[in-house]
Amino acid sequence: MARQIIIDTDPGQDDAVAILLALASPEDLTVLGLTAVAGNVPLPLTQKNTRIVCELAGKPQMRVFAGCDAPLQRKLVTAEHVHGKTGLDGPKLDDPVMPLQPQHAVDFIIDTLRSAPSGTVTLCPLGPLTNIATAFLKAPDIIARVQQVVLMGGAYFEVGNITPAAEFNIFVDPEAAAVVFGSGVPLVVLPLDVTHKALTSAARIAAFRAMGTRVGAMVAEWTDFFERFDVQKYGSQGAPLHDPCVIAYLLRPDLFSGRFINVEIETKGEFTLGMTVADWWGVSGRKPNALFIGHVDEAGFFDLLTGRIARL
Ligand code: RIB
Ligand code: CA
Repeated sequence: MARQIIIDTDPGQDDAVAILLALASPEDLTVLGLTAVAGNVPLPLTQKNTRIVCELAGKPQMRVFAGCDAPLQRKLVTAEHVHGKTGLDGPKLDDPVMPLQPQHAVDFIIDTLRSAPSGTVTLCPLGPLTNIATAFLKAPDIIARVQQVVLMGGAYFEVGNITPAAEFNIFVDPEAAAVVFGSGVPLVVLPLDVTHKALTSAARIAAFRAMGTRVGAMVAEWTDFFERFDVQKYGSQGAPLHDPCVIAYLLRPDLFSGRFINVEIETKGEFTLGMTVADWWGVSGRKPNALFIGHVDEAGFFDLLTGRIARL
């Protein structure tokens, strides 16, 4: 039976590729719904972008919900400098026609976890953890019902991308991240340590374009646009496909490896706010709470990604 998931997202070009990968894999994944959160760009754009991507995938029947428009306690920090003003800069995109669901995303998450058999729904956060934490705080009973949280966020050896210490998703809402990492939920973390090893390249982007499909062309344009930030900043060969690593992990966990360790979230540090303090060497004596992924088989990842995206 296909794994049942909820994708929580802040599109963002890399979120878009992750959503396409999930929707291209119906034999493995049943997407129960997509919940938009403020992150890369404000919520009105992330909910709209989520619907644009579902329509691009030919899945206008997908249920998309709008969630939290600001972090639990802080002002929203966005990333237009990476993703552009719309959040999906690169190609010209039409407004979506499919509807936004009227229910709040947090209530959808709670209701879905309460009505599904316990342990059968996986949450896949691809942005700040505000929606997930709000659901956990509003309905603590759902935590024990979650099969797994598999999220993109954090960094350790790779250090930060929005500050010297913090990765964007965690930095935007560190209090929300502390709720999720401290909840006891089964947790798999895909940090920059692994996503910076899933880099596009001219040849890989050409492979999307060579598909001859509208989806392939869109993915090529998005990754072309998205890579300029990382190439400039890191001198890397291409764009790190952060969020698609979450979906790829669900499809082929054998492509990834990491350690089950303690990871705490810095919520007070003047210079380290939002840092994922990952006890990779087990020196703290603190209880392990997360499978922290450090490596991916890059060729296997791109073979999976291109093979699935070509289906759409
Ligand atoms: O730091 C990378 C993460 O921040 C990705 O999820 C990207 O989409 C942005 O949300
Ligand atoms: Ca994201």
